[in-house]
Amino acid sequence: MPETTTTNFDLIVLGGGPGGYLAAERAGQAGLSVVLFEKNKLGGVCLNEGCIPSKTLLHSAKVFDHARNGKPYGVTTNDAKLDQSAVIKRKDRVVRRLVAGVGQTLKTAGVTVVNAAARITGRHNGRVTVTADGIAYQAPNLIIATGSEAVRLPLPGVAEGLASGRVLTNREILDLSTIPERLAVIGGGVIGLEMAAYFRSVGSEVTVIEMLDHIAGAADPELALALKQSFERDGIRFALGARVTAVEPDAVVYTQDGETHRAPATHVLLSVGRRAVTSGLGLETIGVATERGRIPVDDRCRTNVAGVYAVGDVTGEWMLAHAAYREAEVAVATILGRPDRMDYDAMPSVLYTQPELAWAGLTENEARARGITTRTASLPFAYAGRFVAETERSPGQAKLIFDERRRTLIGCHLLGSYASEIIISAGLLISTGLPVEQMKRQIFPHPTVAEIIREAIWHAWPESR
Ligand code: NAI
Repeated sequence: MPETTTTNFDLIVLGGGPGGYLAAERAGQAGLSVVLFEKNKLGGVCLNEGCIPSKTLLHSAKVFDHARNGKPYGVTTNDAKLDQSAVIKRKDRVVRRLVAGVGQTLKTAGVTVVNAAARITGRHNGRVTVTADGIAYQAPNLIIATGSEAVRLPLPGVAEGLASGRVLTNREILDLSTIPERLAVIGGGVIGLEMAAYFRSVGSEVTVIEMLDHIAGAADPELALALKQSFERDGIRFALGARVTAVEPDAVVYTQDGETHRAPATHVLLSVGRRAVTSGLGLETIGVATERGRIPVDDRCRTNVAGVYAVGDVTGEWMLAHAAYREAEVAVATILGRPDRMDYDAMPSVLYTQPELAWAGLTENEARARGITTRTASLPFAYAGRFVAETERSPGQAKLIFDERRRTLIGCHLLGSYASEIIISAGLLISTGLPVEQMKRQIFPHPTVAEIIREAIWHAWPESR
C-alpha cells in the first residue's frame, strides 16, 4: 500500500472486483483521490474464480478437442491427453498475471489499495466513514462493489457435501486437479453449462439437473434447444423440469413428473444462481436501503443515500462483469458531475461453450410483450464461408430480430463459433438504433463468420429503399 498521511479521500470504493477496480481506476484517472478496500485478491470473483479461470479451462478443452478430432481437417494425433493439473497450473498463472495487472493499473491511476475488510461506520456532514484495521477513512463519495456469492441450496446433504469437498461451487470446481468420474450439475444456467461442457470434454460423465423446462435461462428458446441437442450429442445428460430433493454420497436425488430419480455423482456442482453480498458491511449505520439482500440503484447507480453508489453484482440486476464495468463508469461520471446513465437494452450475454451462445437485446417473446411488431431473419452460419471452411460438425445459427416499423435491430441471438466476439457488432447496431439502410452499407471483412450479421440483415430486408 502506498504511504499516506491522510485518511481523507474524495472516493472510497468497497470491493476490488470488476465494478470496484474499474470505478477506482476511472476516478483516479480523473484526478480524484481514491481508496479501494479489498479483503481478498484484486480482481474479485471474475478474475480469481469466475470469468477468467473458466475461460482458461474451456480453452484447454478446445485445444484438446482439436487434437482429438482433427481427422476431418486432415490432422491425426495418436495420443492426445489432457493433464488436468497442468490445466489448473496454467489457469493459476493466467490469473496471477491479470491480478498483478489490475494492481499495476490502480497504482498508475494513483489509487490507494488497502488489503483489508472494511466496514461502513457512519456518515457526518456529508462524509461517509469506513473503518478497516482500526483506521477510519472518510470521503464524500462511496461506491459499494462487494459482489455476489453462490447460492447454497438448503437441502439434505448439501452442507456435508460442501464440507467434504464433494459438493462444489464455482470457486472449488475451478481448482479441481483431478477429473470427476461422474459430475452432477445442479442448475443449467451459465456456470452450470460452461462447467458441464468443460468436464464432459475432458472425460467426466455429466448430468445437468435443471428446474425449468429449458437450459440457458433467458437465451432464445430455439437456440437454447439447439445448444442442448449439441451437448446431448457430446454425451451430456439433462434432467429438465426437475426438483432436487437431496444430495447423497453417490448421487443427486430429484423428482421429475412425480417420479423420483437419482443422478449418479462422485462430485456435485451447485450452480443455481448467485446472491448479492450486503451483510456485515454496516449499511444500516448510514441507512442504505436493501431489497431482498441486494442494493437497488437508479440509472445513475445512486442508492437512496446521497453520495453512496452501488455497482456490479451487489445491485442484483445483471450479474455480469461487463455490466459492472459500465455501471462503474456511470457512477464515477455522476460523481464528477458528468451526465451519464445506464442503458441495459443491448446488454450482451455469452456462454463460452462449444458452440458458443451469445445474445444481445430482446428475444421475440420479449419484443412481443413490449408490443413491438417484429421482423426476424433466422439463418444457419453456413451462409458465412469461413464458418464452412472451419467447421465440420458443430452447429451454427443466427437469429436477428428487427423492429418492423422503425427498421432497426432490437435483438440478436447467435449459436456457433466466434459468437462471443461477433455479438459486439450486433450490440452496437442495437444501442445506436442504426436504420437498416445504413446497416446495409457497412462493409464486413471477408471471409469472416461475422458476415452472418450482414447476410441476416439482407435476408430480413431484401428490398431497397
Ligand atoms: P444462473 O442464474 O445463470 O442459472 C441458475 C440456474 O439454476 C437457472 O437455470 C435456474 O432455473 C436453476 N435452478 C435454480 N434453483 C434450482 C434448483 N433448486 N434445482 C435445479 N435448478 C435450479 O446462475 P449461475 O449459472 O449460478 O451463474 C451465476 C451468475 O454468474 C449469473 O448471473 C451469470 O450471469 C454469471 N456468470 C456469467 C458468465 C458469463 O457471462 N459467461 C459465466 C459464469 C457466470
